[in-house]
Amino acid sequence: TTHMEVFNLRDFEDVAREKLDPVYYDYFASGAQDEVTLAANEAAFRRLALVPRILRGHGPPRLAGSVLGCESSMPVLLAPTAFHRLAWPSEGEAATARAAREAGVIMIAAMLSTITIEEIAAAGGTLWFQLYIQPDLGFTESLVRRAEAAGCRALVVTVDSPALGRNERGDRNDFHDLPPGIFCANMRGSGRSDGRNDGHVRQVSLSPEISWRHVEWLRGVTRLPILLKGVLHPADAAQAVSCGVDGLIVSNHGGRQLDTTPATIDRLPVIADAVGGQVPLLLDGGVRRGTDVVKALALGASAVALGRPVLWGLAGGGADGVAQVLSLLRRELENALTLCGADSPGALTKDQVVG
Ligand code: FNR
Repeated sequence: TTHMEVFNLRDFEDVAREKLDPVYYDYFASGAQDEVTLAANEAAFRRLALVPRILRGHGPPRLAGSVLGCESSMPVLLAPTAFHRLAWPSEGEAATARAAREAGVIMIAAMLSTITIEEIAAAGGTLWFQLYIQPDLGFTESLVRRAEAAGCRALVVTVDSPALGRNERGDRNDFHDLPPGIFCANMRGSGRSDGRNDGHVRQVSLSPEISWRHVEWLRGVTRLPILLKGVLHPADAAQAVSCGVDGLIVSNHGGRQLDTTPATIDRLPVIADAVGGQVPLLLDGGVRRGTDVVKALALGASAVALGRPVLWGLAGGGADGVAQVLSLLRRELENALTLCGADSPGALTKDQVVG
């Protein structure tokens, strides 16, 4: 419960800032180095203008659809974010998953969650599993098997992290370890493919060794749809499609990895051209308004994903806070589509977005 009134997604950040330990607030809010990309993601949405079509004479817009065979009540997913128990210690990702289920949207569960994927699945609706491919392929495969067994419907392989981004807010706060009792729950275990664990928590490896060969390897070990998250170059998008990847997420990791990468919405058109509709495109980074969602949809995204606003909702009120974030965005999206003269996301055209 909060004493602040919230009218939009940005208001939730103020609530979260008030509630959270400042060190954890900074962990969630920050970007890499000068935070140029962090600011650019939101700024680019502001810079783009929407051109409405008129007199279309239709009913209320239909938001529901499906992404890679998964039903969603709106074209918005929960982006994978680590360490939800820092925001909501009692339940962590279980609260997020419950809110996603109740809203009928897909949650991309992070490999670096603070409860296990099995526990998230017990609380959740439709889940996708985000994976950092580990150089230890036996361990990586054991994670894939656990995600499959837990009922995850797709794998989201994050490919923008050949090293950890340089986070100076974290350095200044001396935030390098999780507090006692909070840990990367999926990383506890021996790497046995039966999922039995021995109590030891593995360190995650973000390694520059990871290559297209690993993606090909993964393609061979699972039948789940594979998405690559963190694609910004059209040549990489094209290569991903020829590797048998099923979807792409245009993302710069919310400005937390390489600083000074372009805003994601500015990369979407070139990626969409390179992919030519062969696989669905998603986008994340700086989505804060229904109009932001509309811009991404018009420029070729099938859906967008939300990172920080979900964490702000979670910090503000657990599952209820996340539910409130999702319902605010849903109302904004409905309103923005209606004002654009679109009766569904598919009715938007790219000429409705101008620089
Ligand atoms: C992230 N993100 C992320 N991505 C990923 O693939 N694995 C992860 O473990 C994390 N962890 C994580 C933690 C925190 C605190 C944040 C803010 C982000 C990136 C995330 O999936 C997404 O790309 C961005 O958050 C999208 O940008 P916005 O919506 O936060 O602006």
